[in-house]
Amino acid sequence: MMKAALIGCGAIAGRWVRSLLTDGRIEIAALVDPDHQAARALADRYELTPVFATTLDEALALARVDVVVNLTPPDHHYRVSREALAHGLHVLTEKPLALNLPDALDLVHLARERGLLLAVMQNRGTDPGFLAFRDTVHLGGRAPFVVTADTLVTLPGPGFRSSQHLPVTTDLAVHAFDQVRALITAPPTEVTCIETPTGFLAPHSSIAVITLRFEDGSLFTYRGGYTVDPFLRTDANGDWRIEARGFAARWAPDPASSGKTAESGPPAYQRCITAMIRALHQTGSAPVPAADNLGSIALLDAALRSAGSSRSIQVPEVPDVRP
Ligand SMILES: NC(=O)c1ccc[n+]([C@@H]2O[C@H](COP(=O)([O-])OP(=O)(O)OC[C@H]3O[C@@H](n4cnc5c(N)ncnc54)[C@H](O)[C@@H]3O)[C@@H](O)[C@H]2O)c1
Repeated sequence: MMKAALIGCGAIAGRWVRSLLTDGRIEIAALVDPDHQAARALADRYELTPVFATTLDEALALARVDVVVNLTPPDHHYRVSREALAHGLHVLTEKPLALNLPDALDLVHLARERGLLLAVMQNRGTDPGFLAFRDTVHLGGRAPFVVTADTLVTLPGPGFRSSQHLPVTTDLAVHAFDQVRALITAPPTEVTCIETPTGFLAPHSSIAVITLRFEDGSLFTYRGGYTVDPFLRTDANGDWRIEARGFAARWAPDPASSGKTAESGPPAYQRCITAMIRALHQTGSAPVPAADNLGSIALLDAALRSAGSSRSIQVPEVPDVRP
């Protein structure tokens, strides 16, 4: 059986542990976190008996590891995934793959060179409810489209977000980038992003307003935020509106049923994790599904540069990375 090291034992780790235990094809051999208490609490909650370490190197000295699950804060993703690939380990990572396109490309190239799997979580862009909305749009509407999305999220524990620069753009907007790329297939051209901290609500509270333009004239405006009052939140998938000539549609899932799909079945994140594990067990050379996510990282790269420079930024072109 393949053995995994989970790097980062914070809020999201429980979701991954539950999904890995349900799947049963990967054993959790190591928990890695500089916060010992977080790692021990995770092990206790799920009755795990892993080795504990504060770095990947330390974990590798204590246990056999085949795959790293990267659950660190976003600004650690590139370094942690790169180190794992350099050690010859497969990588399953939380989003975003990296914070800029050159780093994401470097990971994809390294995984290809080493014949390793590199897969990134895309639970909002692949949500079955969202994909049904996309299908309705593609059946009934013709580009160009005007699309808006509001995503207001409240968190029981903000974790790294209280000290993360531009937390909404870095952590939340990438979901919307995955989603809008499924809706609008024309290449995106320009991003304008303004993120304003609203620390008078809570240390991690912040609102980002992002506008994307597309080559076919389509326009996407996103308003995302970490807010505090659960009464005002949207579902974490967002509240979507779309209009074209003679066509309009809306998708606004009820936040009270967050994580549950319309048809019975596992939530989108669990489906993603199962698909990653399936890819890991494919025979032959390991695929690099993260290559399909480079378009979202190009948008994130441009959005972060726009927020930092207070001007619109051209979306960098994603090179053809097909093997
Ligand atoms: N896909 C989703 O729907 C979804 C939802 C929530 C969070 N996430 C992602 O999951 C990741 C973690 O989020 P979270 O909410 O669990 O954050 P968190 O702040 O609760 O936990 C992060 C953990 O990582 C640890 N850590 C920090 N640096 C580390 C390092 N170098 N090595 C090992 N551990 C380190 C911290 O001590 C902490 O325990 C983020 O990338 C976030 O974007 C995804």
